Formats: sequence, C-alpha cells, structure tokens
Amino acid sequence: MIFLADFTTFTPQNIAMSYPYQIKSFEEYKKAYQKSVEDPESFWSEIAENFVWKKKWNSVLNWNFEEPWVQWFEGAKLNITENCIDRHLKELGEKPAIIWEPNNPEERTRIVTYNRLHKRVCQVAQMLKNNGVKKGDRVCIYMGMVPELAYAILGCARIGAIHSVIFGGFSAQSIADRLYDANAEYIITCDGAYRGEKIIPLKSVIDDALIGNRSIKRVIVYTRTRTAVSMLKGRDVWWEDEMQYAEEQVEKNGIVSFPAETMDAEDPLFILYTSGSTGKPKGVVHSTAGYMLWTNYTFINVFQYRQGQVHFCTADIGWITGHSYIVYGPLSAGGTSVMFEGVPAWPNAGRFWEIVDKYKVNILYTAPTAIRSLMGFGLEPLQGKDLSSLEVLGTVGEPINEEAWHWYDEHIGKKKCPIVDTWWQTETGGCLISNMAGVTPAKPSWATLPMPGVQPILVDEKGNEVTEKDEHGLLKGNLCIKAPWPAILRTTYGDHERCRTNYFSAYKDLYFTGDGALKDENGFYRITGRVDDVLNVSGHRIGTAEVENAINMHAGVVESAVVGYPHDIKGQGIYAFVIDNNTHGDEELTRKDILQTVSRIIGPIAKPDKIQFVKGLPKTRSGKIMRRILRKIAEGDLSNIGDTSTLLDPTVVDDIKNGKL
Ligand code: PRX
Repeated sequence: MIFLADFTTFTPQNIAMSYPYQIKSFEEYKKAYQKSVEDPESFWSEIAENFVWKKKWNSVLNWNFEEPWVQWFEGAKLNITENCIDRHLKELGEKPAIIWEPNNPEERTRIVTYNRLHKRVCQVAQMLKNNGVKKGDRVCIYMGMVPELAYAILGCARIGAIHSVIFGGFSAQSIADRLYDANAEYIITCDGAYRGEKIIPLKSVIDDALIGNRSIKRVIVYTRTRTAVSMLKGRDVWWEDEMQYAEEQVEKNGIVSFPAETMDAEDPLFILYTSGSTGKPKGVVHSTAGYMLWTNYTFINVFQYRQGQVHFCTADIGWITGHSYIVYGPLSAGGTSVMFEGVPAWPNAGRFWEIVDKYKVNILYTAPTAIRSLMGFGLEPLQGKDLSSLEVLGTVGEPINEEAWHWYDEHIGKKKCPIVDTWWQTETGGCLISNMAGVTPAKPSWATLPMPGVQPILVDEKGNEVTEKDEHGLLKGNLCIKAPWPAILRTTYGDHERCRTNYFSAYKDLYFTGDGALKDENGFYRITGRVDDVLNVSGHRIGTAEVENAINMHAGVVESAVVGYPHDIKGQGIYAFVIDNNTHGDEELTRKDILQTVSRIIGPIAKPDKIQFVKGLPKTRSGKIMRRILRKIAEGDLSNIGDTSTLLDPTVVDDIKNGKL
C-alpha cells in the first residue's frame, strides 16, 4: 500500500497506455461513426488489436436478432484481468488503480496500486480455487463498497467464475431468489457495511437468505464493521484466514502469480439482476471480450480519459454503472478510479466536494438524483473546497432536468467542464448515447449522439420508423437499436426465451430499450423515460409489478396497483393504491406493515413513498387495471383523467380522486 503523499507525486514514467482509438474532434467522431456502421468488422477488429489476447479471433461479428444470437470475436481467447491488471504492471505498477475513501472521513484512506491489485486478485483467485470454485461457477457477491469487493469481482474473472453482485440494499428474500435463479454455490460477503450513520448487517441478511438453502457450499466473510455474526461450521469461512493462506501459495520469492484462466471471447463474465415489467428480476448476462472492449472504448471516449487523471464514479458497484465505470472501464485503461464507501450527505453535504479536493479528481460521474439532493443544501457545503482539478462532469441513470444541469455546470464545473449525459442500461453494458467530453456538442438534458457502432431508431407502436415531426420539429418514438454493439446482453440467465420476448420480440429485428426518446434536427437524442411499467427511482430501476407482488404479500392487502409520480429529488416516487381488508382498523399501522413487507420482500429501495387506501381500482370490463388513470391521479393531474366510460365502475375514480395523498 502506498500513502497519499506518494500518490499525489506519482507520474507515470512512461505512458504505456496510449489510446490510439481516442476520438479527438467532432470530425473524427463523424468519420469513426460512419466507418463503424459501414464496416463494423474492420472498425472493431482494429480497436481489438489494442488488447491482450491469448489467441486472436476467427471472425469479428456473427449475429441474428431473431433468436437472439450475438457473437463478437468468435474463436478468441483472453482473460479480462490480464487486460485490466497484468498488462499495466511493467509501466504503471506503482500507479494507484483504486483510491478508496472510507465512509468515515476520519478513517485512513487506502490507495491500491496496480501491483497491489494484482497481488490481491491473485490471492482471491487462489482462495476461490482452494474453496472449490471452478470456471463457470456462479459466485454471488454481497458486500459494501470496500476494495475487497473489487478484488472479489476480479478474482472471479481471473479464475473464470461468473460473478453476480447484489446491491447491499436488497433483502434476504431478493438474495434467495437470485441465488436460486443463478444456481449459485458460493457467496462472498462482509460482516457488515457502513452507510453514513448506519451499519447494514450483510452477513446476517445472507444467513436469512440461506435458511433452508442446501446448494450453497461456501460463504466467505470479510470483516469490515466487526459486527457480531454467526459462522456456520463447514460452510462459513473468514476472508482474512483464507487470504492469508492463499498468499503463501501465490507469492514465491517476492514474485506473485496466479495463472489467468483462458476464456472464450463469448464466455459469460457476469450476471447482474435488473427489473423488468414482470414481477421477477432478470439476470442480465454479459460476455467477456465484447464487454471489455465496450467499457474501455466508451470510458476513453466519453470521458476523454488521459493517463494520469483521477476518475470518480459515485455509483455503487452493486449496479451496472459501478461494474463498468469504477472497475472494468477505468482499470482496462490503466486509469485511477476512486471508490467511495459512504453516502453523499454524511457526515455533511460537502462530502463529494471534499473527495474531489482531497484526491484532485479530474472526472466526476454521478446521478441527477444526487445532484438534485445536493442542490437542496445550497452553496454552503462548497465553501472552502477546491474543485479546480475537475475537467469533465458526467451524469447517468435518468433524465437530467435543466435546473440540475445548470447548477452542476455553474457551481461544480465552474462553466469550464463539459458535461456528458450518458444514456445506457444494465443490458447495454456501457454508454450507448452520449456526447464525448469537449469533442462532440453538448445540449442540456439531451444525451445527444450515439457512440460509434450504435444505430438508434425511433419507432411507433407498430414498429414503423417515425418520420413525422411534432409541432416542435422533433421526432418522437420508442427507442430501439438496429444492430449489436460489442456489449449487448447475450441472454438472461437460465431463460433465453425471456431475453427474446423482453428485448427482441416487440419489434422485428430490433433491440427494444423500453425507453421513449425525442430526436432533433441535428440527430441528437433526448431520452424521455420508460414506456413500460418500470420506474426509475433515484436512478434505480424498479418494476411496478415487483412492488405490487411485494405489497400483495401482506396479509391485510386484497389488491394493489403501483405507479410512478414526479418526485423532486428521486426523479420518480412510488405511489401505491391499495385495497385492504381493514381488519386492523388502523390505517397508519397497516401502512407501516406494508412498508415493512416490501422491505422484507425486495429491500428498502422499493418502499412506496405514498400509500393510498382505496375501495376499488379502475378496471376495464375485462378486469385490466387502467394505470393511465392512476398515473394521472398520482401526478396530481385530476382535471385531465381522460375517458372513463370503458370502466366497469367509473365511480371508483371519484373516490380515488377524493382520497389522493
Ligand atoms: O430509462 C433509462 C434510464 O435508466 C434506464 C436503465 O436503468 P439501469 O439498467 O438501472 O441502468 C442505469 C445506469 C446505466 C434506462 O432505460 N437512463 C439511464 N441513463 C439515462 C437514462 N435516462 C435518461 N438519460 C440518461 N442519461
């Protein structure tokens, strides 16, 4: 480990990582884009030449969206950790790969150099091997934001195991469902995780998830909070003991090694669960080579990363943003990535700005919801913080409103930092539509232009390309993509048909994103939000059906319907209309019971912001709930409910309107 002083004086002796495929001007972007569409095979094979392969590919791209079936770099062999770590060691070994900022600012920072990362990842790989993990096995990772989480992910990749990271805000039940779906046999967790003032008892949640489970062979527990935990003999082991043992195996005469497993380009790298419009989350599967190329390419181009810069992505690694832009993108570029354990407003609302100042952060990538919530604290938390190191700002996860964009631009970027508005999804692996910092034009609230290799199309309900402009001169439609980019999802784990019906069956030969979008005369895209029954709460995807299922589990609930409504900070809030059997006679208590139930079934992140008890729901004669009406009511648009004549009982609408929260 090196200390902060070493880090700030570190300059790469020899810039081993240059990025010949970094786009430097709008003209270059246009040329690259054109080539990527006209001749994707030579475009991507030239880029692929900049990576370390154990064996080169036979063909670049084979695909068919009907099945769907997508294969990039067929026949190639590689290990992603050699690209993220080993290849940097000679020139950048003592460069910080990860700068870790603890939850408590009084605690010591950890700076993990590439050499140190290499050692730890080799140790984890050895530890996993010692515990019986083999190539292709699924390892569930449920940890807080500690460097060991990055080691665990990369250790899995080193040995060829498929990691499935679960965000710390999910409940035991959610974990149990995901373990079952992925058929996982191994878990890596922590005793607890710090989040602001709270300690989340992760191991105890895992214990609850494992009640009755007979498939899990090993639970490896890293000590972070020194929370008391129960350790089951024969199943649970301590990370520290296992790592120490592994250290003796991987380090001989000061030389550290653990052979990186040879993986096919198309071997799955990880599974990440995400919500859809059905009640059950899907395990999105990403492949090795395509995902590596895409996260690297987009990291270097969108953020215009230069060797030596410090990149701070504030996401949690439990979501795709953390996978792609804390771990794989920055590390494959030999970059320095800040990993923050805590939350933005603890112990005070100046925390992000303190981190920027402390580590001289050059690129800050966060979510509009965080910007909006920090705006609420005014400018006081910015006092005395030197933000002059910042060169590029980014946003992700939801549409950014103009007010937040301008605040970010003025008070954080001091009007000198380009802001990239990056649109993408768990399924896309990395940014698909975004401006490139300072290289392609920005437009507040617009994600703007597609990355090279990405061919968006706006279609109407029938799948026909939208060609008629609206009164503002904009095209408006459902956002689809015509051809595969390297990091498109390959399947949904254990259920390929589900992948097909979810993404490839709505419109023939197109990948359907689930988002609506506008397109202007420059070809810029503005993402307007989901067009399916999926909510985006604080940048997190939550299916309304999932929340309804959870609410309906409560014994007092007869039926429920969940919709989103505009929320000043979260972007969207969760509004639940609930018919209860009124056995309690105490609405407030039932409300609390319901919240508790949702927390147990999904996790605290899915708790409704508002619960309105109703006597009936607006249903058509065929029994379908008319969500359009509920959405209008939740939005407060009471005078504009629309036609209710097709309802079985139109009077329920007035009742609901009268009881609106
Ligand atoms: O609706 C879009 C919204 O977030 C959804 C994807 O959510 P998730 O898979 O959790 O990934 C979030 C991080 C990539 C999209 O379908 N979304 C994401 N980025 C933007 C966005 N909406 C508008 N503008 C964005 N920049």
